[in-house]
Amino acid sequence: MNLWSQFLSYQDIHRPTQKMKYYFPVYERYFRDFIYKPVTILEIGCWKGGSMLLWKNYFGPQATIIGVDINPACKAYEEDQIHIRIGAQQDPQFLQSLLDEFGVPDIILDDGSHFQNHVIATFEYLYPRMNKNGIYMVEDMHAAYWQEFEGGYQLPTTFIEKAKKLVDELNADHTRGALPPSPFTRSTMGIHFYGSMVVFERCAPRLDFSMVMPAKAALLEDFVANLIQLDDQGNTSGIADMVRFETSPVFLLEAIEVLLAQTRTRPAYVIAAMLHNVGVERWLISFSLAVGSVLFQLHNKREQYVQQLTRLSSEASLQRRNELSQKYVIPVIAPLLEAAIATEDVGRVTQWFAVLKSCSPDLLAVPGPLPTVGVEAKIPFLADARSLLQRLRREA
Ligand SMILES: C[S@@+](CC[C@H](N)C(=O)[O-])C[C@H]1O[C@@H](n2cnc3c(N)ncnc32)[C@H](O)[C@@H]1O
Repeated sequence: MNLWSQFLSYQDIHRPTQKMKYYFPVYERYFRDFIYKPVTILEIGCWKGGSMLLWKNYFGPQATIIGVDINPACKAYEEDQIHIRIGAQQDPQFLQSLLDEFGVPDIILDDGSHFQNHVIATFEYLYPRMNKNGIYMVEDMHAAYWQEFEGGYQLPTTFIEKAKKLVDELNADHTRGALPPSPFTRSTMGIHFYGSMVVFERCAPRLDFSMVMPAKAALLEDFVANLIQLDDQGNTSGIADMVRFETSPVFLLEAIEVLLAQTRTRPAYVIAAMLHNVGVERWLISFSLAVGSVLFQLHNKREQYVQQLTRLSSEASLQRRNELSQKYVIPVIAPLLEAAIATEDVGRVTQWFAVLKSCSPDLLAVPGPLPTVGVEAKIPFLADARSLLQRLRREA
């Protein structure tokens, strides 16, 4: 049974608890890994004791629940698995006595006085001393905006402002020396802000920031296989979604080569168009698309073409490369584009037009994105394609 259902079916009218509805998905997100484990939960603020019972039911028979409250009457809520200690949350000696007695908590939930200086004092004492992989949750953070709890909008002395600053501390390693890494930097995996709630996920030692990548060949194979599957389904937007999450242009260009070798022009073009949009040099794309096109259209001239292009690419002569592309590719692509226009085949017009456009030196100078790809595309560039064709024919 999930926590929300347990809460709704909670019957003990003598030990009520009151929680914001939207806390439940947050609790579940961070607490579920601790269910049925020998977990120690420290909740600051017992009120009528209801939440302690809720945690006991939710975490199961191995859990130890410690409730802390300044009100001595709360002692009455003690029972099997639930320990109540009376003291002030802002008192470090009291907090230390809890650690001495129960050991380090795995989960700390601050639902106590909500006075900002209390919340800060508790966090500063307990956070570094709790389980190194634990969860620290501060709820009712709306109090950080309310004067009666020492709050105020962007008031530097509130816990919410402290938490915002900790975001920088979390990223200290990337500040190029502006902020030295602290114990907090080294022991925190993440800070999560929710409405009225801040959650800190500890993680020690924290993973370093070196990039990791699984075996690249296998990755490329998988990536291309997925794109081909989407291509078979005609799912262009799915292809675009996959490509969007891949950030290495070199990897994507390699994928273009593999796709074109298998005459998969649609996914190849989607990648090319997206690379173009993020500013990857157009000649690289032209090169890939053109080579791919000639691969299966100009078998006899392919070797010659690839050799010349490869040589020219090292000379960094954009104009020469385009001349070459024009010489080899345009005579082949133009009739294909013409046929696609005649049958109003959106996909093919998109592909051939893009290839033609990227290989035509005068059009290279024309700013603006390549045509939009998408099954829903209505060939908005059909007129451009036609006039390009006419001009090329006139020039021929
Ligand atoms: C919002 S209630 C707790 C509600 C409870 N956690 C629940 O979900 O049912 C806040 C509690 O914090 C206690 N409290 C107030 N000031 C405190 C302090 N300085 N130290 C510890 N507890 C305090 C109050 O006595 C009150 O019972």
